[in-house]
Amino acid sequence: MSLEGTFNTIVPLISADEIHRRIKEMGKAISNDYGTITPENPLLLIVVLKGAFIFAADLMRTITVPCTVDFIFASSYGSGTQSSGNVAIRHKLIVTGRSVLIVEDIIDTGLTMQQITAELITMKPASLGICTLLDKPDARKHHVDIDYTGFIVPNTFIVGYGIDYDEHYRELPSLGVLNSDPA
Ligand code: IMP
Ligand code: MG
Repeated sequence: MSLEGTFNTIVPLISADEIHRRIKEMGKAISNDYGTITPENPLLLIVVLKGAFIFAADLMRTITVPCTVDFIFASSYGSGTQSSGNVAIRHKLIVTGRSVLIVEDIIDTGLTMQQITAELITMKPASLGICTLLDKPDARKHHVDIDYTGFIVPNTFIVGYGIDYDEHYRELPSLGVLNSDPA
């Protein structure tokens, strides 16, 4: 589906203030749980591009234990609003022996996260955690053990705060539900 020929309305879901309040709590929980982390082997945040880049930037600044950041690229939607099931992951990471926390925007069917964790486990991290801004449990088809969840959201299409529809709306400071009606 393209933006052309459609009229898109965005219904507010979670405000910028609510997002930032919740991220502070998540950062505190992560900093507590990884309290024994040392500068010699800092926590490694692996950010799933592109959707999680804004969340990760805000989250990282609330974490008070030593941490570093790296990125992987995963895309399952292309220009549609239905998960295609084709997940392409590209990465060149040094993960062995590291305490790794994956930072994702949304866990929907769970396919993307299952593939990411399966690949990272082969690289023998010391530990592997999952942190997501949004969880859509009603859409789950593949089991995922999530360690940190920002918000549980309904099974609708969400945009804003880094999350896109066909590359649009990432710049919105808050989260909303996208409604596409025929023009
Ligand atoms: P999954 O593989 O079905 O769990 O899909 C997860 C990926 O699809 C996430 O990394 C998101 O980038 C994308 N995604 C899932 N739901 C939405 C949504 O409501 N809006 C935008 N992207 C989404
Ligand atoms: Mg994504």
